[in-house]
Amino acid sequence: MLKPIRKAIIPAAGLGVRFLPATKSQPKEMLPIVDKPTIQFIVEEAVASGIEDILIITGRNKRAIEDHFDKSLELEMILSERGKDDLLKLVQDIGTMVDIHYVRQKEPLGLGHAIYCARKFIGDEPFAVLLGDDVVRSEKPCLKQMIEVYEEYRYSVLAVQEVPPEDTYKYGILKASQLEDKIYRVHDLVEKPKVEEAPSNLAVMGRYIISLRIFDFLAKTKPGAGGEIQLTDALRSLVSCEAIYGLAFEGKRYDVGDKLGYLKATVEFALEREDLGAEFKEYLKELL
Ligand code: G1P
Repeated sequence: MLKPIRKAIIPAAGLGVRFLPATKSQPKEMLPIVDKPTIQFIVEEAVASGIEDILIITGRNKRAIEDHFDKSLELEMILSERGKDDLLKLVQDIGTMVDIHYVRQKEPLGLGHAIYCARKFIGDEPFAVLLGDDVVRSEKPCLKQMIEVYEEYRYSVLAVQEVPPEDTYKYGILKASQLEDKIYRVHDLVEKPKVEEAPSNLAVMGRYIISLRIFDFLAKTKPGAGGEIQLTDALRSLVSCEAIYGLAFEGKRYDVGDKLGYLKATVEFALEREDLGAEFKEYLKELL
């Protein structure tokens, strides 16, 4: 019988170098898009996709993430006393939406190493990985779309999108053949290839459903691109003995780990907000 996808890993141990000085003492995952920390968008997507347990891989300086998903007794008491019921519910819901667990990656050795730190939490079932730098806005949650493909094809599934050829150096890139509309069979993967070495322009977009066997390969994966232990390299070994599929998901993905991507997400999410959108749009029109 096919094992359901119940557990997800969110790696959040990165130093956030691209966002200094804002990330000197606060985790980059806590930077808000309008008023919600980026990691909350990721957790909400996982929950809306049916995930029951989330493991966040943290590091030093990441305590604010744990506090955010914890109960805030003092704040709740004050909001309740002041009769701010809407805000009280907003704050309480963050702490109760899902079971979140934490493990520390003690050294920043790469994404592959971060995932390897989760092996005991995962136990013996396939799992999802959601990267915090990739926020996806879609009608159906991106991970849910992937779980549906997993349920049909029964093996690992990667979220993919085409990128301009000159951007392949930023991503894990697939060598793949198209099976049906939006679905690819992966033959090989390369982490951050130069344009002339890229096997295609199909890039992995920070969402993965991965078979348990990945841990056997992660245990043996040597540092690759950037001197880090890469998940892409372990997936490359996995695909030599087990099928991996790619899903060109529906939705818009924002690279919120990049300053311009972060600004784009902030503006677009603000324009969509019922309480802010109209006024903000007028302001932008005037400004431009
Ligand atoms: C990571 C992965 C890469 C993937 C990308 C998606 O890279 O290593 O394969 O395409 O996320 O955002 P990073 O952006 O962490 O350097």
